[in-house]
Amino acid sequence: MADQGFTADEIDTSRPHPARMYNYYLGGRDNYEVDRDAAQRVIDLAPELVPMAQENRAFMHRAVRFVVESGVRQIVDIGTGIPTSPNTHQVAQEAAPDVRVAYVDNDPIVATHAGAHLVGAGRTGFFLGDLRDPQSILSHPTIGELIDFDQPVALMLLAILHFVEDDEDPAALVDAYLDALPAGSHLILTHSTADFHPADANWAEARDIYRTKGATAPLTLRPHEQVLRFFDGLELLEPGLVQAPLWRPDGPLPDPEQLAHIGFYGGVARKG
Ligand SMILES: C[S@@+](CC[C@H](N)C(=O)[O-])C[C@H]1O[C@@H](n2cnc3c(N)ncnc32)[C@H](O)[C@@H]1O
Repeated sequence: MADQGFTADEIDTSRPHPARMYNYYLGGRDNYEVDRDAAQRVIDLAPELVPMAQENRAFMHRAVRFVVESGVRQIVDIGTGIPTSPNTHQVAQEAAPDVRVAYVDNDPIVATHAGAHLVGAGRTGFFLGDLRDPQSILSHPTIGELIDFDQPVALMLLAILHFVEDDEDPAALVDAYLDALPAGSHLILTHSTADFHPADANWAEARDIYRTKGATAPLTLRPHEQVLRFFDGLELLEPGLVQAPLWRPDGPLPDPEQLAHIGFYGGVARKG
């Protein structure tokens, strides 16, 4: 079920890409020199980026287990990133083997790895799609094969909405997906923020690396109230929208000094 639909020419290795930079933060090897250089410059400015990426993944594990244990059996993971083990389907299918997962990303390099890691046994699929085009994602044949819109779905938007600029109306995009989903569906979301780095010149510079060098939209860090807006009309589940490590922790928290610099909000909400 891997609909790659791209050519090698489309993989732009001349500029750093956030998926490959993120892969570098997580210790992965699916990145190019141009990505490593940019990512390392970001890490030099903001070393907390590494624990932030790790905490974002740990949140993903807990939130996916939570929605599956709540009864959800289908997941749409948009902006899934270069596969990092365990991935969404592995976490979900460990909790319930019959969970189906549709993965979407707009980066061809993610697609090259998806065939080997994200597709299997008829219960997982991957296709190239752009979050900013809900109709083409929702009507994609792979979604048609995997997702039954009469049953609850978990929509995962992890560390992706900060690549959507305000004038692209990210809240309307979230609404467009949720409108297509039935009651009992869930939204799982993380979003980076500068709330924990007020007036931090290094963070501003790190963001500029994404803005000026990246083969992508700039990074839009949002304050708590703007991220909260993405949950409008949903029942935001306990403990609400919090720093990612504080969302239903299942082990020790990072030490207070490190926690103070985790600029990622995470939350899970249910559609009534
Ligand atoms: C920081 S990674 C997050 C990966 C994973 N969701 C996680 O949280 O661990 C962001 C991913 O979003 C993808 N992405 C960015 N903008 C996108 C868009 N408009 N449509 C689809 N994917 C997008 C990037 O290619 C990248 O793989």
